[in-house]
Amino acid sequence: MPLFFENPSPRSEPIQSICCIGAGYVGGPTCAVLAWKCPNICVTIVDISQERIDAWNSDELPIFEPGLEEIVKSRRGKNLFFSTDIDAAIIAADLVFVSVNTPTKTRGVGAGYAADLQYVEAATRRIALLSTKSKIIVEKSTVPCRTAESMRAILDATSPRPGVHFDILSNPEFLAEGTAVQDLLKPDRILIGALNTKSGKLAQDRLANVYATWVERSAIITTGLWSSELTKLAANALLAQRISSISSLAAICEKTGAEIDEVARGCGKDSRLGPHFLKAGLGFGGSCFQKDIFNLIYLAETFSLQPVADYWRQVLVMNEWTKASFSRTIIRHMFSTVSNKKIALLGFAFKKDTGDTRESPAISIARDLLVEGAEVYIYDPKVSERNMRQCLGAFSNFHFSSSVEAAALNASAVVVATDWDEFKPSSSSGKTAAAIDWTSIYANMNRPAFVFDGRGILDTAALQNIGFKVHTVGRGNLVDTLS
Ligand code: UDX
Ligand code: ADP
Repeated sequence: MPLFFENPSPRSEPIQSICCIGAGYVGGPTCAVLAWKCPNICVTIVDISQERIDAWNSDELPIFEPGLEEIVKSRRGKNLFFSTDIDAAIIAADLVFVSVNTPTKTRGVGAGYAADLQYVEAATRRIALLSTKSKIIVEKSTVPCRTAESMRAILDATSPRPGVHFDILSNPEFLAEGTAVQDLLKPDRILIGALNTKSGKLAQDRLANVYATWVERSAIITTGLWSSELTKLAANALLAQRISSISSLAAICEKTGAEIDEVARGCGKDSRLGPHFLKAGLGFGGSCFQKDIFNLIYLAETFSLQPVADYWRQVLVMNEWTKASFSRTIIRHMFSTVSNKKIALLGFAFKKDTGDTRESPAISIARDLLVEGAEVYIYDPKVSERNMRQCLGAFSNFHFSSSVEAAALNASAVVVATDWDEFKPSSSSGKTAAAIDWTSIYANMNRPAFVFDGRGILDTAALQNIGFKVHTVGRGNLVDTLS
């Protein structure tokens, strides 16, 4: 039997019922917005985690995203449901989004690089076993190129019912955490990949019609299945590469006296380069960039494209170096020892407007300082003490703080690790939240009092006027010139 056989009786009617398997950072916001924009479609988001589903059904959603709570509350119980009854939701659905986690393998073949597809496989088997009518299955999780081939093989081997046909689409999610709702409401593009068969094209059209409810047709791109799968990895790799590029230039700035923000502005004005993703900091974090580059490296090595693999690996090497180099800078300027010194770490999430700490650069910085014996007090507006303990619980010299002031009291240094607006000077944040009172912070710190700005968000000159010794990533080494 050919692997991708044609559905003899493809359907073209509008999608009425959607099941989303996986109520995480991708599935939750994506399908909540879909339910909000398409009140005629019944959307059920299911998960094996009772705790997560309970949280989605409560007043305290399991993830923080600006604007999400209002959307969920307006549709929940109407056409948006959160449930652990995975089987019932699958059976009822015309279309199933597979939004389960695809972590990097930790053992066996491809350990450290390849995606662990056990959750995708489990979800696919369940769909195959339960379905009594034909369905469209949509890859939403970021998956390695040609995952649909494995899904097809599982479906064909498992599906017991004659006349039940599955069309597989790739519809990768490009939302960024912290701006997920805006990204979903006004996406740069919607990408839908399908096989070039009659039923594949029909399935592609049916999903495109769902998005066309609120997204302009010109922004809905249809491609082949493999191009769509690879595009997701490619987009994330290119974005991450840009951050490693700006990190490398920031390092040169620190040695030459050039300022990275000025260099970035000058480069970003070139319309061929564009202004986005040129902010130097502690390198990239988050659940996608590193994982997707690992996937790309694994793919390249599988096809014996060693120079290609090496090229992308260097983006990760640069990212690790950026974090380690910042920690070394802190220690060096604090007279090469931070042992028993109190250090306030502001921000623990991998970027602002999210409580997500996956691959957060703040974890690396905190660990480096804790290993050196510093007493590290961490404050983040959205990260819970429990989450911090999961990341750093092994260290007895880690402390949770509930405010900037408490973290900095009697400290020798303040380190900014996340670009939260509330850490920025009020004029630049554009927010009404009270800005940090650095003068009173300074009054309650040990001397000399250091500020290490890992995100380039503070007013260096103003802090120096107060008396701080300041180091800002990507700028000439101000601590040295002051001392
Ligand atoms: C990313 C992609 O942007 C998104 O399209 C994809 O679907 C998932 O991965 P996300 O990881 O949520 O989204 O955040 P993003 O805004 O891309 O930031 C990633 C990291 O890069 C963060 O740690 C951020 O602080 C850092 N970053 C971003 C910089 O250091 N400088 C920049 O200029 C931009
Ligand atoms: P992402 O950032 O890709 O959304 P998350 O880890 O936030 O990843 O979410 C993935 C969700 O998928 C988790 O809540 C996990 O419990 C759920 N999940 C994994 N496998 C299955 C499965 N077979 N059936 C239902 N839910 C699943």
